Amino acid sequence: MIDRHRTNGAQSTAAFFLVILIIVALITHWIDVTRDVVTIWGILQLLRLYPGRIPDLDLMFECGDKPVITKHDFRANGGPTPPPVFHYCGDESSYDIVFPDWSFWGWPELNIKPWEELKEDLKEGNRRIKWEERQPYAYWKGNIFLGAARHDLVRCNASDGEDWQARIFKTDWYQEKRQGFNNANLASQCNYRYKIYVEGVSWSVSEKYILACDSMSLIIKPRYYDFFSRSLLPSIHYWPVNEHDKCRSIKFAVEWGNNYTKKAQEIGRAGSKFIQENLEMEHVYDYMFHVLTEYAKLLKYKPTVPKEAVEVCPETSICSVKGSRKRFRIHSMVKSPSDSLPCNLPPAYEPAALRDFLEKKENLTKQVRLWEESRKFRK
Ligand SMILES: *[C@@H]1O[C@H](CO)[C@@H](O)[C@H](O)[C@H]1NC(C)=O
Ligand SMILES: *[C@@H]1O[C@H](CO)[C@@H](O)[C@H](O)[C@H]1NC(C)=O
Ligand SMILES: *[C@@H]1O[C@H](CO)[C@@H](O)[C@H](O)[C@H]1NC(C)=O
Repeated sequence: MIDRHRTNGAQSTAAFFLVILIIVALITHWIDVTRDVVTIWGILQLLRLYPGRIPDLDLMFECGDKPVITKHDFRANGGPTPPPVFHYCGDESSYDIVFPDWSFWGWPELNIKPWEELKEDLKEGNRRIKWEERQPYAYWKGNIFLGAARHDLVRCNASDGEDWQARIFKTDWYQEKRQGFNNANLASQCNYRYKIYVEGVSWSVSEKYILACDSMSLIIKPRYYDFFSRSLLPSIHYWPVNEHDKCRSIKFAVEWGNNYTKKAQEIGRAGSKFIQENLEMEHVYDYMFHVLTEYAKLLKYKPTVPKEAVEVCPETSICSVKGSRKRFRIHSMVKSPSDSLPCNLPPAYEPAALRDFLEKKENLTKQVRLWEESRKFRK
């Protein structure tokens, strides 16, 4: 159970404190124009979709890149009970409660449309260029200065003497910004048969865009997870790349895919299908609904609105902004309450079933590593 003292314990780490009663009230000390504001916009839409169904609650939310409630500092180390903090990602060594990130409601600075709209663009893009006609290489484009794994990935670019079958491009932020990020048009980035996913500082919002391309995703083993990625299965939804031997592993994947084109297409399509079906906005809202409802059940106190809180409402959130920010808000607005109830919360995994699932994932990855090994010996 969560007492008031425990929630307040997160005050120094979290970016904002949110109270949902009939109104949404907010106390913030984060100064990003997108993450916190758009996350709250998303929660307001949830309230519009399921009016009267979200229980009273207050919560702490962190908007930075990395998880903040490290196990090391808390119970796992005989320390205090961790405060509940909502955040966009987690990892093995943290207790952050994962929540959908802001990009589902659009990222105006990067000209990334709200997910509902972008998802359709990606579908359309997939129809435009058939898998066989796509470039038979592994593609990645992004900011190479975020995180060691990306820095390392640059070595796999074809221009480095040996052709690792990877085509790596860095985003030129200065130039893209001047052109309004038109080059970052995500649907037009589906013209390679293989698409690489690599983490930046932590999880990257790009994972869903990469997976939705119908191309086989080559996922460099990530450390962080968001709210959906742990369900993805290696060699079913994506190809697992060995994080310790990236270039060789990518080259093998591309050659394998170009030899077994049917199988590679199958994996690419399964990844897209997973994203297109599981990440319907309706399901994203249902996830939010359940995680907030279950959390609220644990509160031992009755939330109240603190004096210093400001009320946020959808109307002012639209009127106070201009340009693509306004357009994205209007597009991602829930127009009317849902005429059906949220889905039922599936039962929690039995410990044995969870162990099995994790073991299956590990086995599938091991199989790919074995294929890579046997190839090494043949050479
Ligand atoms: C990778 O190689 C291509 C083709 O030679 C080049 O255009 C591109 O700039 C290189 N990428 C990086 C990150 O250096
Ligand atoms: C792909 O096929 C070529 C030609 O048959 C073969 O030399 C190579 O080992 C194969 N690679 C993989 C990864 O299957
Ligand atoms: C994983 O592989 C091991 C060894 O081959 C096998 O005994 C086990 O049943 C597999 N587990 C799953 C869940 O597939």
